[in-house]
Amino acid sequence: MKRVSLTQYLVEEQRLHSNIPASLRLLIEVVARACKTISHSVGKGALGDILGSANTENIQGEVQKKLDVISNEILLEANEWGGHLAAMASEEMESIHPIPNRYPMGEYMLLFDPLDGSSNIDVNVSIGTIFSVLKAPEGMTQPTEADFMQAGSQQVAAGYAVYGPQTMLVLTTGNGVNCFTLDREMGSWVLTQKDMQIPEETKEFAINMSNQRHWHPPVTRYVDEMLAGKTGPRGKDFNMRWIASMVADVHRILNRGGIFMYPADQRDPSQPGKLRLMYEANPMAFIVEQAGGAATDGRQRILDIAPQKLHQRVPVFLGSKSEVERVTSYHQE
Ligand code: AHG
Ligand code: MN
Ligand code: MN
Ligand code: MN
Repeated sequence: MKRVSLTQYLVEEQRLHSNIPASLRLLIEVVARACKTISHSVGKGALGDILGSANTENIQGEVQKKLDVISNEILLEANEWGGHLAAMASEEMESIHPIPNRYPMGEYMLLFDPLDGSSNIDVNVSIGTIFSVLKAPEGMTQPTEADFMQAGSQQVAAGYAVYGPQTMLVLTTGNGVNCFTLDREMGSWVLTQKDMQIPEETKEFAINMSNQRHWHPPVTRYVDEMLAGKTGPRGKDFNMRWIASMVADVHRILNRGGIFMYPADQRDPSQPGKLRLMYEANPMAFIVEQAGGAATDGRQRILDIAPQKLHQRVPVFLGSKSEVERVTSYHQE
């Protein structure tokens, strides 16, 4: 079988569809290279002094793991000097990171969750990196947070790397979703799944059930109906999976269907859900829609939300289309 590399895929995609200008291609390749470096660190584990806590807190009040900080630095360093970016933003940085003056300023803006699934780092369970690419507004000179406040539908590229038994990169530039596997010996990304499609029907759901007592009624109803099994209103048995790394849960859903939920609940109205719109929900929603699935906040399409703050949180329902439509309709009743 002929092997298609990430570079070859991107070049041919540009030739066929003109949707990946050279500067965007180089930007994606730099992000992919940074993910390769993160994957290498992840693989070292205790041998690389990367496990455990960094004993610092991020702006969301989460205790940072060493690997959260290391991955953030790897992505910043890799992307600073290429000339494709105007600014970056990350889960692990309070405010945006404009490209330093010593480097040329480019036309794109990069957002990332450098290390997703922090609670799984120290127990050798799959974790990942999520990224989103926006275009800088026309005529922008000095980037500010306001320049990032674009709806997810404006993303020009999004992807994630999953560091699991294999390291994989899943990517969309708005023309379907493709998956690349890292050839660890050669150090190259090889196209291994073309045009991924989320199966429409599913018998699997993913939610953190420990929050059940806090849920809003539409979520309770939706999950209760699935739990009722064959004799319930759904007429079939459902299975539950919860990895607690969004990348790994989404990757399973891309491959065999299912629905992923991190709803808002009744605890704190100022914190709608846990996941962050700009670098978790938006890129995943773009990927899921490009793979034929759906993604909402329970009421509207995630990609249509007008962002207000860099680190804003949002309820997330994504995956197989018919399931996302069902739970969304329960919110509208
Ligand atoms: P992060 O590690 O980047 O802070 O994100 C963690 C997120 C997401 O990956 C996962 O789906 C969710 O948190 C797990 O939450 P629970 O600990 O509530 O299960
Ligand atoms: Mn975190
Ligand atoms: Mn995350
Ligand atoms: Mn993270």
